Amino acid sequence: MKKLTINIDNAINFLKETPFGLEKLISDKHYMIHNKTGQGNDFLGWLELPLKYDLGEFNRIIDCAKKIKNDSDVLVVIGIGGSYLGTKAGLEFLKKPFNNTNLEIVFAGHQMSGDYLNELLEYLKDKDYSLNIISKSGTTTEPAIAFRILKKALEEKYGKETAKNRIYATTDQKRGALHTMAKKEGYEMFVIPDDVGGRFSVLTAVGLLPLACANIDIKKMMNGAIDAYHDFNNPDLKNNAAYLYAATRYLLYKEGKNIEILASYEPNLIYIAEWWKQLFGESEGKDHKGLFVASANFSTDLHSMGQYIQDGSRIIFETIIKLEEQEKDIVIPFDNDDLDDLNYIALKKLSYVNEKALEGTVMAHVDGGVPNIIINLPKKDEYNLGYLFYFFEKACAMSAYLLDVNPFNQPGVEAYKKNMFALLGKKGYKI
Ligand code: PA5
Repeated sequence: MKKLTINIDNAINFLKETPFGLEKLISDKHYMIHNKTGQGNDFLGWLELPLKYDLGEFNRIIDCAKKIKNDSDVLVVIGIGGSYLGTKAGLEFLKKPFNNTNLEIVFAGHQMSGDYLNELLEYLKDKDYSLNIISKSGTTTEPAIAFRILKKALEEKYGKETAKNRIYATTDQKRGALHTMAKKEGYEMFVIPDDVGGRFSVLTAVGLLPLACANIDIKKMMNGAIDAYHDFNNPDLKNNAAYLYAATRYLLYKEGKNIEILASYEPNLIYIAEWWKQLFGESEGKDHKGLFVASANFSTDLHSMGQYIQDGSRIIFETIIKLEEQEKDIVIPFDNDDLDDLNYIALKKLSYVNEKALEGTVMAHVDGGVPNIIINLPKKDEYNLGYLFYFFEKACAMSAYLLDVNPFNQPGVEAYKKNMFALLGKKGYKI
């Protein structure tokens, strides 16, 4: 079976040293990860999760997904950051753009727009729905507010007793306000393991329950992650695409390429990039270090950000996720009149044109001083999704350790919260 590969040919010319020269450093960091001796080592539960996930809970997820699909038109997933982006990424990656017949998944608690919540409440009024509230800490403001509002609406619609059977709480096993509430109210509960942080939690119930509700085969997804575990459990970066990616982007950063743009030529990957931005941004960006991670979707953004990438400050490199196989293709028809001058590509497949756009853009950007890494992803399916999630998680841990920062904390996120709480008058907070 074809698997994800990485091509750094268009990056190494920009480097003073080759990534393969980091062999010893990478191998040391590999053992630091696997022997759990690095910073934040009590948050390495994601590492062996594909091998060790709780089968009992996994089957309960499948059963609950069946129930939700039976009794609901819509599942509202309430969460923010790592409690929402992986699910959104998975859904967008695998869903058909139109005519989706699956249970509809919508999101709340990932921002604080009153307009959005009002519209959502209006939309849900004449539909059957369930809520999946996801928060590891159980205290995050955005989802907590959204849950309070949506729970009230759900209880008004079905009555408190029935509503309770439509609420699914994914949270910490032992602590937090959500844990306490779920226990007290008797909600069905799923666990985010203690040693798995939010942005590394997509392969727990956080992602698995909503994805299963959307008819995504989560077993196949976990199989992709299991294979990725084995493929990226190799200290030798020559035989480990995740480490080669981490080493290359680290050296590009050392050469002053401070911004990494993750780009793809398929709209289904837009939210993979959003998830990736959180993963790398929150894991690496600390102690005044780290790449600024951004994203683009081509060819759409070639007509906007393309100008800057080609011609602006030379502080950027690109990582392209190249999807190698289209599920469905379309042929450009021949037209006798050829008024649009397109007959030179008539009878060619659209994927062929998209591929030439990719090749032409890579050449132009490399000529313009933008190094390029290509991640070849065989196709858009559950297996490759699980594989890709794990690939990036492993690469991210390695990347942060190369910078000597703790990949698993996020001290910077607290600053805004403290000010916000003080401004809102929460007890114990002052500006
Ligand atoms: O990666 C992280 O830990 C964060 O981004 C969290 O996922 C995010 O802040 C949401 O936290 P919680 O799940 O505790 O509500």
